[in-house]
Amino acid sequence: MQTPVADFVKEYAEKKGVRFHMPGHKGKEFLGCEPFDITEIAGADALYEADGIIAESERNATRLFGTGGTFFSTEGSSQCIRAMLFLAVRSWRGEGRPYVVAARNAHKAFLYAAALLDFDIVWLFPEETHSLCSCRISPEQLEEVLKGQKQPPAAVYVTSPDYLGGRLAVGELAEVCHRNGTILAVDNAHGAYLHFLEQPQHPMDLGADLCCDSAHKTLPVLTGGAYLHIGKLAPETFGADAKQALVLFGSTSPSYLTLASLDLCNAYLADGYAGKLAETVQQLERVCRTLRENGWETEETDPLKLTLLLPEKENGSSLARRLGSAGVECEYADAQYIVFMATPENDSADYGRLVQALGVNHSPYLQREKMRPVQCAGRCTVREAFFAPHEKIVVERAVGRICGAPLVSCPPAIPVVVPGEVIDRNAVAILKYYNNDTVEVLK
Ligand SMILES: Cc1ncc(COP(=O)(O)O)c(C=O)c1O
Repeated sequence: MQTPVADFVKEYAEKKGVRFHMPGHKGKEFLGCEPFDITEIAGADALYEADGIIAESERNATRLFGTGGTFFSTEGSSQCIRAMLFLAVRSWRGEGRPYVVAARNAHKAFLYAAALLDFDIVWLFPEETHSLCSCRISPEQLEEVLKGQKQPPAAVYVTSPDYLGGRLAVGELAEVCHRNGTILAVDNAHGAYLHFLEQPQHPMDLGADLCCDSAHKTLPVLTGGAYLHIGKLAPETFGADAKQALVLFGSTSPSYLTLASLDLCNAYLADGYAGKLAETVQQLERVCRTLRENGWETEETDPLKLTLLLPEKENGSSLARRLGSAGVECEYADAQYIVFMATPENDSADYGRLVQALGVNHSPYLQREKMRPVQCAGRCTVREAFFAPHEKIVVERAVGRICGAPLVSCPPAIPVVVPGEVIDRNAVAILKYYNNDTVEVLK
């Protein structure tokens, strides 16, 4: 597969011409990557008006993912999430205020989109949960919620895989959406690779209309590299307006390092990636078995995650510190789980070090407590709450106050309470559980 953007920046760097253009480093090495870091010079195309090498690279990505259109973002899924919601809200033909039906474990970028685009939200809560990160929504539950609405929402918005690796029945959810006159938008930030499994399981393979992938999370792409995918059967305007949607929320100086990295990734995906991925999946299954033999309990996850449930006497942050001092860094740890993310770029020595650093667990696992989903009453819209004057107070004093900014810990950046909601006692308990000491509330 051709790599026109990566080739262009390399050739330009090799020419060692005089740079009387941005960026200010002029290609001199400070970090080391500056020679490849260019701006929209002649021949370099322009991300948001692409008709040259970037357009060619995006067409390659579209073919690779088999979508109706795949567009690059250099500002992560965060930018793509806003763009997806812009597309959905813009094409909504309902009466009154637009609204979106969304699973409650949405990343905070979703709330920023609600503040910017001023849509209402009907939340889907999990029937039961052990973690803020997961929100198991069944097709039946979605059907019931959609049937209960006066008019179809602009979109249904779900996160799959979630931060712990849990996945939803995206195909069935998409069918429910289409039957009920709406579209399905999926935050697939953690699942760009899913299309390349032996049986493709990417949301776009399963019928989603809009989807974002953080290429940088699971593929060998520089931080910020992401895809906005448009479904083949999605409303035509989505593809036509995708660039407009992305530019609305992006910098006018997208990073060519990230673009070149996304471009190179096309060739990586086209050239034997599926085989490497299959090996990695098998390797992780073997690691899981070994860890279970060593007394650890593993969660069911998407194939590139390894999520351990923590036993009674173990604490996520102290375990993460212990692993860190053995040179092994995890992705995420909280009071109940520790999450590791792997890709084909991890080698067998990495897995050996992980297994060794974890050692044998002798601590028992007790019955897990269920977490009651936070369902606070809404007092104003997300946008009104964002724009109102705020003050910061300690979390213990927040009961009865209106939340002003998404109350999250990062990662996983999932809001416990949503701006505009009245904070209740259960919310305070969960905020403390996730180590939030202060909260922003309306004055
Ligand atoms: C579920 C989920 N969605 C969206 C995002 C935002 O992705 P990005 O960092 O690519 O902007 C994250 C980031 O961690 C995430 O975990």
